[in-house]
Amino acid sequence: MSLEKAREAHKALSEKIHYHDQKYHGEDAPEITDAEYDRLRRELEGLEFQYPELASEDSPSQKVGAAPSSGFEKVAHKLPMLSLGNAFSKQDMHDFFTRLRRFLNLGEGETLELLGEQKIDGLSCSIRYEGRELVQASTRGDGSEGENITRNIMTLDDVPKTLPDDAPDILEVRGEVYMRHADFEVLNAQRAKEEQQVFANPRNAAAGSLRQLDSSVTAKRPLRFFGYALGEVSKPVAETQDGVRQALERFGFQTPEPHICADDAEALLTYHEKMMEGRSKLAYDIDGIVYKVNRLDWQERLGQVSRAPRWAIAFKFPAEKAITTVNEIRIQVGRTGVLTPVAELEPVTVGGVVVSRATLHNEDEINRKDIREGDTVEIQRAGDVIPQVLRVFKDKRPGHSQAYCFPERCPECDSLVIREEGEVAKRCTGGLICPAQAVERLKHFVSKSAFDIDGMGDKVVRQFWDLGWVKSPVDIFELKSLHEDDIAALEGWGALSAKKLFKAIDKKREITLDRFIYALGIRQIGQATAKRLAGHYGDLASLKQACLTAQDKDSDAYADLLSIEDIGPSVADDLIGFFGEDHNIDILERLTDALTIPDFEAVGQTDSPVSGKTVVFTGTLETMSRSEAKAQAERLGAKVSGSVSKKTDYVVAGEDAGSKLKKATELGVQVLSEAEWQELIA
Ligand code: IVH
Repeated sequence: MSLEKAREAHKALSEKIHYHDQKYHGEDAPEITDAEYDRLRRELEGLEFQYPELASEDSPSQKVGAAPSSGFEKVAHKLPMLSLGNAFSKQDMHDFFTRLRRFLNLGEGETLELLGEQKIDGLSCSIRYEGRELVQASTRGDGSEGENITRNIMTLDDVPKTLPDDAPDILEVRGEVYMRHADFEVLNAQRAKEEQQVFANPRNAAAGSLRQLDSSVTAKRPLRFFGYALGEVSKPVAETQDGVRQALERFGFQTPEPHICADDAEALLTYHEKMMEGRSKLAYDIDGIVYKVNRLDWQERLGQVSRAPRWAIAFKFPAEKAITTVNEIRIQVGRTGVLTPVAELEPVTVGGVVVSRATLHNEDEINRKDIREGDTVEIQRAGDVIPQVLRVFKDKRPGHSQAYCFPERCPECDSLVIREEGEVAKRCTGGLICPAQAVERLKHFVSKSAFDIDGMGDKVVRQFWDLGWVKSPVDIFELKSLHEDDIAALEGWGALSAKKLFKAIDKKREITLDRFIYALGIRQIGQATAKRLAGHYGDLASLKQACLTAQDKDSDAYADLLSIEDIGPSVADDLIGFFGEDHNIDILERLTDALTIPDFEAVGQTDSPVSGKTVVFTGTLETMSRSEAKAQAERLGAKVSGSVSKKTDYVVAGEDAGSKLKKATELGVQVLSEAEWQELIA
C-alpha cells in the first residue's frame, strides 16, 4: 500500500471509528458488533504501525478504545494490554526485520531470533494469579482498563485455577478466549432450535458468551483459552518468548501449536505459508501469524509505539472478498470539508461480517475504476480495513448505466467544490457556512478523544445545531444558562436527562491542553501532534503567540515550530492559518474565558536529570540506534527535537556529526558525547 492510499484508508477508518464511538458511548445504540469495532481499531493501529506519520493525523487510536461498557466492574491493567501492528505482505515483513535490526543496532554477523505462532481470532484476556491462586480476569477494554470477567473465566476448563509451587507469587497471563468450529456449530444449531438468534461466527459467539453478566450462562458455553504472553510478574519465568510458552505449559495452560523459532526470514515466512494453507483444517479460526522477538531483554529495549509493541507484528492472511452491487454512490462531507464518496452496497457477508458500505476514496479512484451506481462489483476487506471496491464487472452493467459525475458543488451547502494543487481530495469551500463541516467539527469537539462529553452524541449535536442552540463550541458551555428549559422540554428528554447533560458538560470545564488543542479540529493536528504542541509550548497563550509570530517565515518562532517532531511546513501552514483567522481567535478567547486549561506537564518521567530538557541527537551513535536513543530520552521526560535552536539544552553528537553540531557550537548549546549522555541519564 502506498502512503497516499494508507492515508486515505486511515482517514476513512478514523471517521468510521469516531462515528461508532459516538453511537456506542454517546447514544448507547451501537450499529456494529464489538468484534467488528475491534477489527476497525486493529486495522487503524496496524496502519499507524506501518506508517507512523498517520498517527499524527486525526487518529482515534492513541488512547481510547472500546471503553468498558456498564454492567461489569472496571479493572485497571497493571501493565497495558497492547495491540499489534499489522503486516500484509512479505515486503512488510522484511521491513519489520530491517526495522528491528536497525533499532537494536545489530551488526551483520549478529542473529536475531523470532518466534512465530498462530494469531488466534478470539478475545484477548488477562488472568491474574496472586499466591498461585486465580484472583482476577479481565477483558482488554481500551488497553488500560477492561471489564472484570473473573467469574466467567473461572468456568473455563482450559484455565488453571491454581498454579504449581514454582510459579511466581504474582503472575498475569495474557491470552485469547476462543471457540472451536465444531463447538460453534453445535451451539448455533441448538440456538436455532430454541429460536434464538444464531451467532455470525465463532468470534462473535465467544464474545457473546464471555460478556454474560450471569456466569452460569458462560459455564454452558464451550469456551477455550490459549496463553501467549505475560503481564505483570513478580519474578522472571524465562529469558525468551519460547521460554514463556514453556513456562505457561508447565503452569497448565494450552499454547497454540505448531510454532517456530528461527533467525532466517525464509524459514519464518515459509511457516506463514504453511499455516495459511492449513488454516481451514484447523479446529479454530486464526487470522494470521504473530512474530515476536524471542529475547525478552530485547523486547524490553524495543519498547512500544503508541499502543503496539515494536518487538512484535501480526502478519495477516490475505483479505476476504465478495461480490455485490452498488445501490448508490453518496458523498460524505468531513470536518475539514473533504468530500468522500461512499458506495452504499447491497449487504453481503465477507468473512463473517455483513458489509453494506465501501469507501470509494476520491474522484480519481472512481474514474480509474469507472465505478457506477447499479454496478456489480468485487469488494474486499483487506486486513479488516474499511471495505474497498476491487473491480467492476462491466459485462453485468445495466443498460441505462451512466458514468458517475463527481459533484461540482457541496451536497450539504451548495458551495463550490475545489481540488487543491497536489491533492487528490476535493474540498467544499463553504467553511463556516457549510452545515456538514460545522456539525462534523462540533462532533469532533465533543468526541471521546477531545472533550468527551457524555450524552452529546452525533444525533444530539445535530439536533442542537438544527435548533440553533449550538452553532460554535462555546455555545455548549452556555446551554445551561440559555436553554435549560428548552432542552428539558424536548421529546425524549425531561429535566433529569437535561441535568445529566449539564453535569457532563460541567465536568469538562477543566481540560488538559493537549485535548483542547486536538478538540479544535485543526487540519492535520491529531492527538499525537496535539500532545507534542502542548508539550512544546506548555500553555495556550504561548502556542497562540508562536503561531501568530510564525506568520513571518523568517522568524525564530517559525523555525522553532518546525523543530517540533512531526511538524513539517504543511502542518505548520495549517496551524498558522488557523490562528491567523479572526473568527478562530474570537472563539478561542471565548472558550478560554469559559474553561480552565492548566499548563501542560510533559508526559515522560518528571524526576529524571533530563526531564523537560530539549535534546537533539546527531551523527551515528555507537551503543544504540538513534530511534532507540530518542525513545529512551522521551521515556525520561526529555523533548527530542530534530533541529538545533537557542532553546536546545543538549546536542548529543555521535560519529560524523555535521551541521547540527556546528550550529550548536555557534549558539553555545552544550554538546555531549554519547558516553557523556549515558552518564547523565544513568
Ligand atoms: S502477542 C502485544 N500472540 O491479537 C501483546 N497476540 O491484533 C502481545 N492475539 O491484542 C500479543 N493471538 O489479543 C499475541 N499468538 C498471539 C495472539 C495474539 C491473538 C491477539 C492479541 C492482540 C491482538 C492484536
